[in-house]
Amino acid sequence: MRNHSKKIIIAIDGKASTGKTTLAKRLAKHYSYAHIDTGAMYRAVTFYALKHYRKANHQIDMPRLIENIHNIHIEFKIDSFKQRCLLNGIDVDDQIRSIDVSDFVSLVSTYSPVRTYLVSLQQKIGQKKAIVMEGRDIGTVVFPKAECKIYLTANPEIRAKRRYRELIQLGHQTDFNVVLKNVIKRDYIDQSRKHSPLTKASDAIQIDVSDLNAEQVYLKSKKIVDQKL
Ligand code: DC
Repeated sequence: MRNHSKKIIIAIDGKASTGKTTLAKRLAKHYSYAHIDTGAMYRAVTFYALKHYRKANHQIDMPRLIENIHNIHIEFKIDSFKQRCLLNGIDVDDQIRSIDVSDFVSLVSTYSPVRTYLVSLQQKIGQKKAIVMEGRDIGTVVFPKAECKIYLTANPEIRAKRRYRELIQLGHQTDFNVVLKNVIKRDYIDQSRKHSPLTKASDAIQIDVSDLNAEQVYLKSKKIVDQKL
């Protein structure tokens, strides 16, 4: 761990399961910065919606969710060096990674009131800088002036393998083809949505992680960050 006096915002964006969280955690630890996983925030809202506003026809009552969005309080706490997501004071970090939440999260995150609510929370959290924030729109919408922007990409099969391993480790029962379909579907929804679609910021540096291990991605990224410090 090193202490750097210059405090910047490191924005990490990219497709689902490209290793954004692994990279963000390592960079945050190295620079003694805070780490915020904004995907966890969209997942927490989705988890809340499924719990309170799930309709019989496998849909979410979005107007009711939006009406009550201000009742959703999201925070992060550090537990044994791990960041955990709290929803209205309760640790939901494991539940928000379920296939059920993954199935609905891209759809929930297409709604502009959901995005406005979470983006303003993310901007508040990051205002003091010294932060690594990961997501889909950090370099384009949340912090368009971030000093350092990294964009991760990789082919869908490699990303589905990563997600499948993670789910099995978390104890979720699933099938590889279901995970692959979910990754492809989420890419489509993330990239084609009307409000802040997933796209590389013009000043972001892209890393294709398909043939790189986590260490190689970290070392490449650290070089990019060091140049900005
Ligand atoms: O990073 P993740 O796979 O946990 O993100 C879950 C979903 O949240 C993803 O499908 C798109 C959405 N998301 C978003 O729209 N904007 C962000 N900044 C982060 C995530």
